[in-house]
Amino acid sequence: MQPAFFLFLLLQLLFATQETHKILTHAGGGRWELMQKSIGISAMHMQLLHTDRVITYDRTDFGASNLSLPQGKCRHDPNDKVLTVDCTAHSVEYDVTTNTFRPLMVQTDLWCSSGAVTPDGSLVQTGGWQDGRYKVRVFSPCNDSSCDWVEVGDGLKEDRWYSTNHILPDGRQIIVGGIDKYNYEFYPKTTASGVYDLPFLKETFHANVYENNLYPFVLLNVDGNLFIFANNRAILFDYVNQTVVKNYPTIPGGDPRNYPSTGSAVLLPLKNLQSGAIEAEVLICGGARENSSSLVDKGVFIPALDTCGRIKITDPNPTWAMETMPYPRVMGDMTLLPNGNVLIINGAGSGTARWEMGRDPVLHPVLYRPDKENGTRFLSKNPTTIPRMYHSTAILVRDGRVLVGGSNPHEHYNFTGVLFPTELSLEAFSPSYLDAEYDTMRPKIVSPLSTANIGYGQKLNVTFQVKGKLDRDEVSVTMVAPSFTTHSFAMNHRLLVLGNEAVTDIENGDVSTFEVHVTTPPSNIIAPSGYYMLFVVHRSIPSEGIWVKIM
Ligand SMILES: *[C@@H]1O[C@H](CO)[C@@H](O)[C@H](O)[C@H]1NC(C)=O
Ligand SMILES: *[C@@H]1O[C@H](CO)[C@@H](O)[C@H](O)[C@H]1NC(C)=O
Ligand SMILES: *[C@@H]1O[C@H](CO)[C@@H](O)[C@H](O)[C@H]1NC(C)=O
Ligand SMILES: *[C@@H]1O[C@H](CO)[C@@H](O)[C@H](O)[C@H]1NC(C)=O
Ligand SMILES: *[C@@H]1O[C@H](CO)[C@@H](O)[C@H](O)[C@H]1NC(C)=O
Ligand SMILES: *[C@@H]1O[C@H](CO)[C@@H](O)[C@H](O)[C@H]1NC(C)=O
Ligand SMILES: *[C@@H]1O[C@H](CO)[C@@H](O)[C@H](O)[C@H]1NC(C)=O
Repeated sequence: MQPAFFLFLLLQLLFATQETHKILTHAGGGRWELMQKSIGISAMHMQLLHTDRVITYDRTDFGASNLSLPQGKCRHDPNDKVLTVDCTAHSVEYDVTTNTFRPLMVQTDLWCSSGAVTPDGSLVQTGGWQDGRYKVRVFSPCNDSSCDWVEVGDGLKEDRWYSTNHILPDGRQIIVGGIDKYNYEFYPKTTASGVYDLPFLKETFHANVYENNLYPFVLLNVDGNLFIFANNRAILFDYVNQTVVKNYPTIPGGDPRNYPSTGSAVLLPLKNLQSGAIEAEVLICGGARENSSSLVDKGVFIPALDTCGRIKITDPNPTWAMETMPYPRVMGDMTLLPNGNVLIINGAGSGTARWEMGRDPVLHPVLYRPDKENGTRFLSKNPTTIPRMYHSTAILVRDGRVLVGGSNPHEHYNFTGVLFPTELSLEAFSPSYLDAEYDTMRPKIVSPLSTANIGYGQKLNVTFQVKGKLDRDEVSVTMVAPSFTTHSFAMNHRLLVLGNEAVTDIENGDVSTFEVHVTTPPSNIIAPSGYYMLFVVHRSIPSEGIWVKIM
């Protein structure tokens, strides 16, 4: 190539990059960055640990990934239909701080499984497919490269595929449902070692139009019962006594919201934690209309649902209030942001979950601001360029960005010859609160230092700095439980607003130092023991978080 022509190309490239950058930073707010072109696997399941590392995995039985296992390790499975000797990784540890990753080794298939982090910070993952259906595996984090998955063995009584887990106040996890499973069980098996019926899952199973009740939305309510949403309705469930405490009305419209009509759900931020009468609200957004799956089988892709339902689950007579999103969306991911807003990201505008069944990728994330007036809550954000269809994920990380990965809408690692290639990339979405224009408002926590241990119902002082003028009434402290995210549901995700009892001045200067006084959550029902990211939020701009362990 002629040097002059090369220079011309280089300039063109630079110009193009700048143009793209300009568009990306200004249209609807928010910024996308490609962190890794390939981590070698497709990030179908993601969990952030308190080491700031994300554990992610896809499946072991669909061919070679693009990442070799270290030291000549291979997995031998004579029953694997694609590859009986597989020397590639299907799980990866991604280090958020250094933007690096390393292969991990799983022994059995953990595809479409579920999990939760124990109070001591280990990821306990349950179930999967093929040889992994009854299995439990543990990943105990380390700060070097010495840790890997440990196979516990057949820790489940039932084979669990497409189940949902939730961490409980006593530190165990409950595993709810799964394909052909109308029941639940616990891990570890301590006092309750059996399998318990959950007829609600049978009632919400619609065999004629696919299940529509898999990966049920399970959320821990403030009274210790579980809110369980499947298909188009929910119950409040006492898992100890196996009783339905409350039946919630069917969501207006009656369309299904769970796999394969995959919508998403979050428990909205919990506030006024010392009040003794904490209110809890749930927001469920998107999904595929009734019969979408059967229509897709005939080659018809109808628009996804564009509605969200919001319900106060602690109300004596709860009712759904509906709102309309800027875009219809199936397979969207809902993630709580440190300032209490909800990001709705990823997914498709028509079709449904399942292999090759989604169309019209929705590239724009949408912000939902629960405290704004009805009608002004949604904001459309700058789009990505990478479709994130079936098997994509999104999780909040400690610096306030949202890590986005996955998309594997086929049964194999197909990169060509398909409508939506398998994605091995990782992107980060930076909400507008990370923009430089908010630098003078952004708090910086100076104490406590990570990783602080805190107790329940205790006074806590958090020291922080701000470069600009402080608006004392607009300071709050929040705690966010990192989620186990797969199939558009962030299991165990919750956000606690500790509020602000007083803000005192510590030191005034170019950068001023303040102390905000708060009280930690009252109980392990409100905040199950474990690691949370703690943020100081000033005028809706969050600090970088610190890890705290509540116990
Ligand atoms: C993955 O590996 C295959 C085979 O080596 C290669 O053809 C493909 O380009 C790779 N894809 C990505 C996204 O790295
Ligand atoms: C990793 O490092 C952090 C920060 O130094 C520390 O708090 C944590 O205990 C370490 N974790 C492990 C598993 O060693
Ligand atoms: C559940 O059982 C426990 C222990 O037997 C009992 O204390 C509690 O009141 C029961 N809860 C309900 C809602 O019946
Ligand atoms: C969905 O299909 C079922 C069974 O064919 C039918 O009874 C029902 O009316 C259909 N619903 C809609 C909204 O088309
Ligand atoms: C928002 O307003 C619409 C139209 O008035 C109403 O139908 C809906 O119930 C409201 N939604 C919420 C969440 O309050
Ligand atoms: C996807 O990959 C599998 C396994 O390599 C192959 O059998 C199949 O034909 C591929 N599909 C397409 C559409 O290329
Ligand atoms: C928090 O600050 C207040 C006021 O300065 C002080 O009285 C209290 O002892 C501090 N509490 C803790 C736990 O440090």
